[in-house]
Amino acid sequence: MEGTSHPGPLRAPRGTHDVLWPASARWEALVATFATLARRSGFGLVINPMFEEARLFHRGIGDDNEVVGKEMYEFEDRGGRLLALRPEGTASVVRAFVEHRPPLPWKAWYATPAFRYERAAAGRYRQHHQVGVEALGTDDADLDVEVVALAAAFYAALGLTRVELLINSMGCRQCRPGYMAALRSFLAIHAKALCDEHRDRWERNPLRVLDCKKDACRQATEDAPRLLDFLDQGCAEHFARVRAGLDAQGLAYRVETRLVRGFDYYTRTTFEFTGLALEGAQNAVGGGGRYNGLVEQLGGPPTPGIGFGIGVERVLLACDAEGTFPVAVPAPDAFVVDVAGGDSARDLVAELRRAGLAAERAYDNRSLRSQLKVADRSGARLALIVGPDELAAGTVTVRPLRRADAQQQQVPRAAVVDRVRRLDPPEGSL
Ligand code: HAM
Repeated sequence: MEGTSHPGPLRAPRGTHDVLWPASARWEALVATFATLARRSGFGLVINPMFEEARLFHRGIGDDNEVVGKEMYEFEDRGGRLLALRPEGTASVVRAFVEHRPPLPWKAWYATPAFRYERAAAGRYRQHHQVGVEALGTDDADLDVEVVALAAAFYAALGLTRVELLINSMGCRQCRPGYMAALRSFLAIHAKALCDEHRDRWERNPLRVLDCKKDACRQATEDAPRLLDFLDQGCAEHFARVRAGLDAQGLAYRVETRLVRGFDYYTRTTFEFTGLALEGAQNAVGGGGRYNGLVEQLGGPPTPGIGFGIGVERVLLACDAEGTFPVAVPAPDAFVVDVAGGDSARDLVAELRRAGLAAERAYDNRSLRSQLKVADRSGARLALIVGPDELAAGTVTVRPLRRADAQQQQVPRAAVVDRVRRLDPPEGSL
């Protein structure tokens, strides 16, 4: 039964998962790839707390959405403060900006867990992870293009090809009310045809109806007014400049007028990346947009902003589905096999590591056969074998493990580290 604790083996909570070695090597590589691309575009790493005052999210994201309204992990701490585990990255980054006021433009990237009490399913977790960026301080449409291009470059760097970019504009404080009025009039007439959830609740936030994936809502809103037709001149020009920029970069996209995104802070450009190789319900591999009013809403000066969040688990699922970005487990450069008491293993791995090489060894004085088996499984390129003969002669047997055509050699003990270092790359010369 959910919500109750029960005896039995301890497991990770529902909707969470452990990432163990070697699968985690992929996470390291993914975050490193993102960091490299983000830095190249002028973004610096920002690290925020995992929990914030709950009112940050109520005020910043709004309550009329699934995430804050229904899914947030909110709790009172022992001091009586109402806190929440961060359900996303943007609000915290903006709060940090308002608090510290770094010079503008301010471009920050992050890698963070995010917590949402969702119905757990494949690709939908209660703790998921995002890499993302936020750029504050300019409404220049060229920045929108840079931000979208950064996300696209990231997917491409992982080898993903089946990712579709959807874009829309949410308008602004000036032009959206006109649209909302038109949408309300439309929904008032078509309310009966909406899905069970929205039939009685559409008035509270009509935009959510457009976002609804149920057939009933989809069909009923087929001819609903489109926000793009209500944009004022400034928003229309901004959107046109974004489109021209994407075209200039050769970035393919589809304008999706229903794309209103799940949070209330969005203005002007919104976008989402769909993993076409993934199951429909969980196929958003990333999304974001502008939030030109958010800084002000959180107590700062009027400051435009734009960013995105990319779901790490979803992206990795897409990689699996497309057969790309395999786990590349870094293997040790050398594995020390010591059947002469263990001192050589102890000292040689330390020496190798001090020299900047990756070294492994076996423990517990196992047999030669068993140590060689572990050496082989480790993926090491070389076994450095020390037995009584080598010990007496002051040598080490250097045995290539990855190449059948290379011969093993006796190398003076004092020259071993150098020999391993020189191995990069001509293994055949051994
Ligand atoms: P979001 O669309 O809610 O946007 O989340 C971003 C991405 O996180 C999604 O596209 C998806 O890949 C992943 N994601 C979301 N929820 C889950 C989940 N339960 N399980 C697995 N993956 C998930 C935001 O969070 C905004 N803060 C993005 C943004 C940044 N907008 C402006 N700046």
